[in-house]
Amino acid sequence: MTSTRPGAPLSRLLTVPLGLDIWEVDAAFVVLQAEEAQAARLESMGYDVEQLQLADSYLSDFATHQAMTGYHSAESLEAGLRRLAEDNPEVAELHEIGRSVGNRPIWALRLGERRGSSRKAAFFGCHHAREWISVEVAYRLAEDLLAGAATTPAREWLQEGEIWVTPMVNPDGHEFTRTDNRLWRKNRRRNANGSFGVDLNRNYGYLWGTLDNNTTSSVPSDDTYFGPRAFSEPETRAVRNLVARENFGGVLTYHSYSQLILYPWGYTRNAIADVADLREMRDLADEMRRLIGGVHSMSYVAKQASGLYLTAGDTTDWTYGEYDISSFTVELRPATAMEGGFILPADQIEPCWEENKPAAHAFIRHAFAKPRPVT
Ligand code: ARG
Ligand code: ZN
Repeated sequence: MTSTRPGAPLSRLLTVPLGLDIWEVDAAFVVLQAEEAQAARLESMGYDVEQLQLADSYLSDFATHQAMTGYHSAESLEAGLRRLAEDNPEVAELHEIGRSVGNRPIWALRLGERRGSSRKAAFFGCHHAREWISVEVAYRLAEDLLAGAATTPAREWLQEGEIWVTPMVNPDGHEFTRTDNRLWRKNRRRNANGSFGVDLNRNYGYLWGTLDNNTTSSVPSDDTYFGPRAFSEPETRAVRNLVARENFGGVLTYHSYSQLILYPWGYTRNAIADVADLREMRDLADEMRRLIGGVHSMSYVAKQASGLYLTAGDTTDWTYGEYDISSFTVELRPATAMEGGFILPADQIEPCWEENKPAAHAFIRHAFAKPRPVT
């Protein structure tokens, strides 16, 4: 969708509450999922609406049986994590950090020879149900660190510190995308008005509820519904309790898609006030971008999160705002909806992981470089 009329700038599209599901934001256009009535309203407001694809044909093109193979379910993820922990008892420990609304365990794998070190990094995947690749990159990171546990650099990291990997923060939503609706985003909370789901990446408690627009919504049926109060959801409370307890030097959360590396703030276009923190995160984001590009020449863009769109209550605003943790959101492959959007073809799981590996390692190195008091 593009805008030709000065009265209907694209930026306004993101701020008026229309209940849109925004997929992709570019300087010249926005890709979103909308019902016909919403599309008609947008046209009457002066936007050029171009139908890329109907949801059904998009799904039949991309959400094929073939496209499911190679991706974990909540159940196969649990089995995989258990096996990693059992096969590596000296360096891996499986933790149930909480349970979902639907009572599914949320698993974190703790990597490292001992608990209570002063160097710690955390990785998260799948806050959003449909972003399957985010589970895979986090899982492969854990698997690969364990496979390399006898050699550098993993050996030193596992001796001196801890890496906590939580590949699936939202198991209920993820399961729902496998069985009912491949494009579901939120968790599976039954809301007061009978609609379903809270956007877990709007439910964190830093300046929660201070925005109400298309990308952070107070309307329960919207895709970016922020919930009735901060940390209303057991999934975000699980992350909160882990982060509050472990004193991480860095937090990195995987999402998809758009190929971006984002750092705080998300709630304002203003830059972080602390210039040393700003430089640190900006430089690391840029280094990660360069490292990713060096593997398969894929281009990712590093920028402040609000440069994508404004959100209140996302993970990294909270981890940085509340705890001063160096925090990043990495939006994985692909770059565009035409390449599959949320449905990344399975043959790209491996290359996507490969290109993100050196960036994840740079992030660990960075998180470990500043030992934090043991809590
Ligand atoms: N695309 C993710 C989401 O919608 C990341 C948001 C990061 N924060 C931001 N202000 N853009 O939750
Ligand atoms: Zn996401």
